[in-house]
Amino acid sequence: MASAVAACTTPPAAPEPTPVSEAKPGTAQYDKDVFETLLGNHELIRREVKQLPNGIEATTESDNAEVAALIQNHVRAMKVRLEKDARIRQWDPIFVAIFDNAGKIRMEIVETPKGVRVQETSDDPWVAKLIQSHAVMVSGFVSRGSEESVLEHQPPAK
Ligand code: HEM
Repeated sequence: MASAVAACTTPPAAPEPTPVSEAKPGTAQYDKDVFETLLGNHELIRREVKQLPNGIEATTESDNAEVAALIQNHVRAMKVRLEKDARIRQWDPIFVAIFDNAGKIRMEIVETPKGVRVQETSDDPWVAKLIQSHAVMVSGFVSRGSEESVLEHQPPAK
């Protein structure tokens, strides 16, 4: 009897997150599979960006637990890529500029229950504008998905 009661009060185990990639975490293929999955689920993501004098503060979240975990995974991985100069998407001029200036970018990540809050700033006024342009592009990924990610994005004029 007791085990039956225990059985019905124990919440069902959280579903195993669907593996988004067969590649090893940290590899370019793994990171690509993660952001492709985010693009494919962009309707489940919401994002708010606050302009700062020296950059941005952005909150990017989802009520879907798996998507929320992927946003966290993506942003952690991208921070490591900036630190290691492990470049991706170098056909897109704004990404070339972001990696060229990674040394001037401060990225502080706070994980929220449903995603991330990121403060991205720079003491260099042009890099601060670059960060703001990149944030507009990420918002485009969230609102338009792959329609936005197939486009090239220009860094701000010097
Ligand atoms: C819907 C899809 C995507 C979401 C939700 C997303 C989310 C984010 C967030 C929250 C940040 C932290 C900075 C910020 O908040 O502005 C970020 C940074 C970054 N994302 Fe994504 N991203 C997406 C797609 C992509 C794609 C397609 C790429 C392409 C390679 C990418 C590459 C990067 C890189 C390199 C950074 C670090 C550079 C920086 O923040 O300056 N993301 N992304």
